[in-house]
Amino acid sequence: MLDIQTSSAQPTATPHVTRREDYTAPDWLVPEIALDFALDPAATRVKATLHVQRSDAHDRPLRLDGAGQTLLSVSVDGVAVNDWTIEGETLVLPLTGSAHVVETEVEIAPERNTQLMGLYASGGNLCTQCEAEGFRRITYFPDRPDVLSRYQVRMTADKARYPVLLANGDPIAAGDLPDGRHWAEWRDPFPKPCYLFALVAGDLAVNRGSFTTMSGREVALGIWVRAADVPRTDHALAALKAAMAWDEQTYGREYDLDVFNIVAVDDFNFGAMENKGLNIFNSRYILADPDTATDYDYDGIAAVVAHEYFHNWSGNRVTCRDWFQLSLKEGFTVYRDQCFSADQGSAAVKRIEDVRGLRAAQFPEDAGPLAHPIRPDSYQEISNFYTATIYNKGAEIIRMLATMLGAQAFRAGTDLYFDRFDGTAATCEDFVASLEDASGTDLTQFRRWYSQAGTPRITASLLHHKGSGRAELVLAQNTPPTPGQTVKQPVVLPLRIKLFGADSAQPYAPEQTVLLTEAEHRIVFEDVRERPILSINRGFSAPAILETDRSAADLAFLAAQDDDPFARYEALQQLMLDTLVESAGGARVDHAAVIAAIGGTLANPQLDRAFVAEAVLLPSESFIGDQMAVVDPEAIFRARETLRRDIGRALEASWRAAYDGARATTTGYVYSPEAKGLRRLKSVALGYIAASGAADAGALAFAQFEAADNMTDRQSALTTLVAGDSAQRTPALDIFYNRYSDNALVLDKWFSVQAMAPRDDTGAVVAELAQHRDFTLSNPNRARALIGAFGVNQRAFNAADGSGYRFLADQLIALDRLNPQTAAKLIPPLGRWKRFDSNRAALMRAELERIVAVPGLSKDMAEQASRSLD
Ligand code: PHE
Ligand code: ZN
Repeated sequence: MLDIQTSSAQPTATPHVTRREDYTAPDWLVPEIALDFALDPAATRVKATLHVQRSDAHDRPLRLDGAGQTLLSVSVDGVAVNDWTIEGETLVLPLTGSAHVVETEVEIAPERNTQLMGLYASGGNLCTQCEAEGFRRITYFPDRPDVLSRYQVRMTADKARYPVLLANGDPIAAGDLPDGRHWAEWRDPFPKPCYLFALVAGDLAVNRGSFTTMSGREVALGIWVRAADVPRTDHALAALKAAMAWDEQTYGREYDLDVFNIVAVDDFNFGAMENKGLNIFNSRYILADPDTATDYDYDGIAAVVAHEYFHNWSGNRVTCRDWFQLSLKEGFTVYRDQCFSADQGSAAVKRIEDVRGLRAAQFPEDAGPLAHPIRPDSYQEISNFYTATIYNKGAEIIRMLATMLGAQAFRAGTDLYFDRFDGTAATCEDFVASLEDASGTDLTQFRRWYSQAGTPRITASLLHHKGSGRAELVLAQNTPPTPGQTVKQPVVLPLRIKLFGADSAQPYAPEQTVLLTEAEHRIVFEDVRERPILSINRGFSAPAILETDRSAADLAFLAAQDDDPFARYEALQQLMLDTLVESAGGARVDHAAVIAAIGGTLANPQLDRAFVAEAVLLPSESFIGDQMAVVDPEAIFRARETLRRDIGRALEASWRAAYDGARATTTGYVYSPEAKGLRRLKSVALGYIAASGAADAGALAFAQFEAADNMTDRQSALTTLVAGDSAQRTPALDIFYNRYSDNALVLDKWFSVQAMAPRDDTGAVVAELAQHRDFTLSNPNRARALIGAFGVNQRAFNAADGSGYRFLADQLIALDRLNPQTAAKLIPPLGRWKRFDSNRAALMRAELERIVAVPGLSKDMAEQASRSLD
């Protein structure tokens, strides 16, 4: 028996860079693969039988990627061979013919797999995660998405410990063995890249459902979880059925297997994974009941269930040629899940939430050291490119295409794309060309969005000559330089625009979509008698930063009158933002205009409550910081708290009326858009009542905390209590902890509420919580709940003495040893150093340098930390 222990690759002085332009088609194809797993947490044996085919007339050997496994044997066409070599971790095998059967056997140790890539143990079960390059940690294989194979999988395992054995496709056979073990075989008829391979072995119970497809086929649905969690899976199952129906109606896409299974696991690096016919989910995106999940959690579950389901077409049936094309599946699928969610409830609120998310995560990324185009040109570690840019900016790019082409032509384009590329590994260019061919629209310039990083800035100014009745809109665009891309070209920006008369509040003409393609553009409007007010980038039709010369009065007008809900929200946000930036800069600012606009919004009975709740929220501290030349976290915090207090005080009666009104109309928990809106408004109102300094705020919040029949109300009351200093604060935290100490997902909330608290002692509290017996870096959700939440608490993290930076760096160094992927994702708060004063910048850089110098640092962290220093 051969026993070669390969070690995992260490970063070297010159890290390996993969470049998009170096792409070459695979030398060898693997049309069929059979896998045989003898499953055991300490030592799993994997036999792989690969039917390999030389792709054309070349004489290159077969190269199979591997990582961290022990190779036991290799044979070719049934005969053991030993003329192979290992280069780095790649198995190189000389082959003479054009087709062979290559068999390997390896041993792996799932229980020691803390990276959660490949085959690993979670909560006593075994599961896999292969995207992007995890399959090579299971067996030797050409681990690249353009090698598509039909999989047959056999699993053998102890029956008592692992009574359920699942894999991709359909179950074909199963049986018992005499020694207490059992086996099962699954076959997936659809050729797929290895990143979509999955298996699960565990002690799981199932919530079953069924769906009849548009052509009348019956699909057996199953959501697999711990037995005690089955009652928490109904929402996910309902969302799955809704998503299946939606994709048929909206894109004409039908499910293609007889079985669709979802498994929830507690330890997972991302949200979920779209493995063919066997999606594996982070349990936070499956498990929900009113007592343990908030409305926000319910929404997230529906969105992620839909997202992974939609990948069956946008990702699986048509997959990616190489990882540079990641946004081909992710941007498109995020766009699809956003539209699905918009159709399930309030489309306006969904758009506001999506834009808020984009501004919180993607705009800073695009303006910082890690900026990259949605189709990157190079990477060291592909895991680092599962970013807000690839996903969320990617979705905005698809949304612009849909806006420009119109619904019909867009659908014709996606139909053509699915038709042309079904069963293949495609590129972003293939997608754009399909839309172009189906619609007859020239997208030459639009393609710049795929290669250019950075958020465009648009300036818009509207000039009006009363005498001639002419108005002229002057638009200009400019994208600031990003690392490695100093010269930027104009991009295509579809701007939905409307003008309103300042006195009559009537629109001059219907909305129009202006395509801004040049650096500068002028549009003339005739017959404009009243002074016009500009409503622009309605619906956030272009993912850009807009600077306009609109006065506070005009913004207040739009906040009260605009008929586009997003534009209305945006006007009020801009009014708040201008006020906050000015006052954080040291000016004495009058809050009256903001207070009046909020009061008007609150009092408008025509507006949906969910919209009102979103509209009256102040911009986040970090978004305010993004508008300033130098971020002053203390000044921003003070400006924002002062404005909150003033809004709370001036409108106290309205907040109380809104609070009582919402409370009176919600009896018994219902998950509906209306009920969600009322709960949201109630929590926002409670926050403002507390901000006003009202003496009864603690008692009011505590009463809500105690009486709540759902987690939305309970968590919002806790958040309010934790922010303040009332007598009820500590009791509430203790009650919450004791009540939910056996529920990991709720304990995550207990950690993150404290890490996000707007308090002087947050840094010290977080450092203490890192020592808590329930804190562990081994579980990504828990690590993110504390460390991730703290990193985005702008004021606490950026404490002037650098204690926040040191704490984060310590944690990331420790986490990197266990789980490099999750660690590297938490680096960005330290990469904002250029945005701060020189003291803070030096402290942040010192921590990044300390991280970079750690011996044995992962490739993931080495890439992100060193890029963050540039
Ligand atoms: N492809 C998954 C999704 O977005 C995300 C993911 C990436 C999950 C890598 C795990 C690992 O749907
Ligand atoms: Zn995805």
